[in-house]
Amino acid sequence: MSNHTVHFDSKLPNIQTNIFSIMSQLANRHNAINLSQGFPNFPSDPVLSDLVSEAMAAGYNQYAPMPGVQELREVISEKIASLHQYNYHPETEITVTAGASQAIYTIISAFISKGDEVIILKPAYDCYEPAIELQGGTPVLVQLRPNFTVNWKEVAEKINSKTKMIIINTPHNPSGAILSKKDMLTLEKLLKGTDIILLSDEVYEHIIFDGEQHQSASRFPGLAERAFVCASFGKTFHNTGWKMGYCAAPSYLMNEYRKVHQFNVFCVSHPKQVAFATYLKNPEHYSNLGAFYQEKRDYFLKLIKGSRFTFTPAKGTYFQLLNYADITNEADTGFAARLTKEKKIASIPISVFNINDEDNKVLRFCFAKTNETLEQAAEILCSI
Ligand SMILES: Cc1ncc(COP(=O)(O)O)c(C=O)c1O
Repeated sequence: MSNHTVHFDSKLPNIQTNIFSIMSQLANRHNAINLSQGFPNFPSDPVLSDLVSEAMAAGYNQYAPMPGVQELREVISEKIASLHQYNYHPETEITVTAGASQAIYTIISAFISKGDEVIILKPAYDCYEPAIELQGGTPVLVQLRPNFTVNWKEVAEKINSKTKMIIINTPHNPSGAILSKKDMLTLEKLLKGTDIILLSDEVYEHIIFDGEQHQSASRFPGLAERAFVCASFGKTFHNTGWKMGYCAAPSYLMNEYRKVHQFNVFCVSHPKQVAFATYLKNPEHYSNLGAFYQEKRDYFLKLIKGSRFTFTPAKGTYFQLLNYADITNEADTGFAARLTKEKKIASIPISVFNINDEDNKVLRFCFAKTNETLEQAAEILCSI
């Protein structure tokens, strides 16, 4: 056997294992309660699993149509029309994907070339920047204000002739903040007359609290005309491991997207698409999600009220930020690791999503957990 290893220059020399894998591994190693990675620890609806089994038994085990099962795209189109009054044509404007991640990666691959700039609001979910860099594009970073609102003036200043795309995410991971109607109208005005594509990551679209309305890009004609809206069934139906989702965009953009999608993944799980086509027909399967998670948020916050952590209640998503500045001055990465090892509770340090790893002494906790887990977690947090 030869000892030769091939030489190559890494296309992503600065990328290491992402924080979600690191913290989940650490949680497993130290037998800690894992509130780090964003997934529920309760099962998805057995009715949905039965529908998948039925689809398999009925023979839906070969390739699905490239853009997705027609019946599923129709029901997605109806869902968006009823919620946001925008009509995507199921044939040409909706594609079923392997989670939102694949949609996002494929959108960036299809449209970003060497030298293109993409504006990202930080802190941001971590899959955007590497995808841009792999295409030779440049992420242009704009830090959100300390209360996680957008400084649109700063965004406007970053727009130039090289700006090809802007990525937004509402409800927002990691902060739990949401974009308001005013934000979306400001963005609409900002993009008017430009050739900038909007990538709107809306994976937490149904997890929104306190009577707020999700401001999908598809509600705003000046945004919808240039937007890819990305959604995740994993987040909505408690089955992140199934990696199912979709993206929606006007046909002239979707046509270009599909040129890459067909060689990237071609199609995604056929039996699951057949199951979702039936399951999504009942709006009750997603319309109560906000209330469901609001109850969990409120329960978690009630339990930790007496702790030394401070917080502003999340407006959406299933993440709650907790500020620990009153407890210690330690760096958030070190504190998160120490809490996992010594106190047996895992979280995500927010600095890793900020520009220059800015550390505001904030940890992110996922409350998509059973009440029992939340009670155990709260007991630990109150003891710190
Ligand atoms: C903001 C955001 N976008 C995209 C994704 C990826 O979604 P999916 O699991 O459907 O690929 C996640 C998952 O955590 C997320 O938080």
